[in-house]
Amino acid sequence: MSKFPNNFFWGGATAANQFEGGYKEGGKGLSIPDTLTLGTKDTDREYHYPIDESKYTYPSHKASDFYHHYKEDIKLLAEAGLNMYRMSIQWSRIFPNGDEDKPNPEGIAFYRNVFEELKKYNIEPLVTISHYELPLGLAEKYDGWANRKLIDLYVHYANTLFTEYKGLVRYWLTFNEINSLSMPSGGFPVGGIKSIAGGHGMTTQIEETSVQMSTRFTALHNQFIASARTVNLAHAIDPENKVGCMIAGMTSYPLTPKPEDMLAWQEKIQQGLFFCPDVQSNGEYPYYMNRFFRENGIVISKEKGDDEVLKNGTVDFVTFSYYPTGCVQAKEEKKSNGAINAFGTPNPYLKKSQWGWNIDPVGLRFYLNEFYRRYKKPIMITENGLGAEDKLENGKIHDPYRIEYMRQHVEAMSEAIKDGVNLIGYMPWGIIDLTAASTGQMSKRYGIVYVDADDQGRGTFDRYRKDSFYWYQQVINSNGANL
Ligand code: BG6
Repeated sequence: MSKFPNNFFWGGATAANQFEGGYKEGGKGLSIPDTLTLGTKDTDREYHYPIDESKYTYPSHKASDFYHHYKEDIKLLAEAGLNMYRMSIQWSRIFPNGDEDKPNPEGIAFYRNVFEELKKYNIEPLVTISHYELPLGLAEKYDGWANRKLIDLYVHYANTLFTEYKGLVRYWLTFNEINSLSMPSGGFPVGGIKSIAGGHGMTTQIEETSVQMSTRFTALHNQFIASARTVNLAHAIDPENKVGCMIAGMTSYPLTPKPEDMLAWQEKIQQGLFFCPDVQSNGEYPYYMNRFFRENGIVISKEKGDDEVLKNGTVDFVTFSYYPTGCVQAKEEKKSNGAINAFGTPNPYLKKSQWGWNIDPVGLRFYLNEFYRRYKKPIMITENGLGAEDKLENGKIHDPYRIEYMRQHVEAMSEAIKDGVNLIGYMPWGIIDLTAASTGQMSKRYGIVYVDADDQGRGTFDRYRKDSFYWYQQVINSNGANL
């Protein structure tokens, strides 16, 4: 018998900058990812602006070309049986520089078409308002989220979306993986903070001064305020609207039972994982951050009334992405690759994916319980999946590794539901193949649908159902009973 509730959201997730393409079409302006080049597992993506396509590959420019394939793609999602689709809107498609007064009508029309197409198949959209795709204009002109003016600009953008898409969209996420800004690597690619020195790659670990850390945490504070105001606005415009937060699942364990390792682990999950949802769901900064701010000389620029805004703008549901787990030691050696190191020391008990991300379904049950225990609000997994190379042969893709990965994670979710966690949905990442955020590679595939394109953006862009497509279809049809 299925352990999943009848109204469970079986979905899939994408982000516009990694999936949509059409980066100059329909009046769209440039966003930060449009300036980031292709990387690899071992080399960072780089920021190259002005854009020079004769020299560099920019993965977001074509991505999976959803811009021209959305009807076909939504039909495939419907065929797989999805009842929710997580997608994002590119701010720079609605406001090309990010700070215009009036929205770009072509951008508004594009997403309206997408939402109407979803409605045709009874697929509920879950829309991320900002998923690593800040308009470049806001980085250039304002220094990104370091500038408090971004709050009003974001609220104006969100207001436009809530008004335009009233009745078509009910589920919203304010910022993708908001805790990315609590890590140094998020400064420019996520926050658009040009004044923070250091690399512009997605994975570079950057040594920061207290002034730079203060700038970054002020930027994060600005996002908290923007998010809280947006929650209220969404409710005021349509009481049907539900707004959630979205946290990067920076999950880990202590490496050993040594008490010092336990303390180091506690500090890591508090600062890296729970700090942001503590603010967004509980409505105030958690006590444990004070010492961290004090000892690192971090001063956050707040304004009078901010505490009230946070108190009154708490989210309706809590979501997180879940990929690898790491281990934490009291004295952790710094390694160069932030994408892996961000999670901590590798766990000796777990197998790794081709991209070095370990696979830990049991940890998903553990962290679902941790999240639910803290917030007691409906929980959604808004990203999870295995990035792996696939082979297209005679129109078929056999991907038993992906099926196994997903099966184990769905089993872990059903255990968490039995534990009593109010889990309401599962959005496997890159449900249709898309370009990776960390490396920009198309070859790091997550989807149940294959897109015929390579890392350089060459190919037919035809879509093919993988074996995992039929597997997920059967899972959805049986409401999780048939794994
Ligand atoms: C999450 C991001 O951190 O991880 C996605 O929200 C990203 O945008 C996903 O794609 C997987 O990472 P990657 O680098 O494999 O694409």
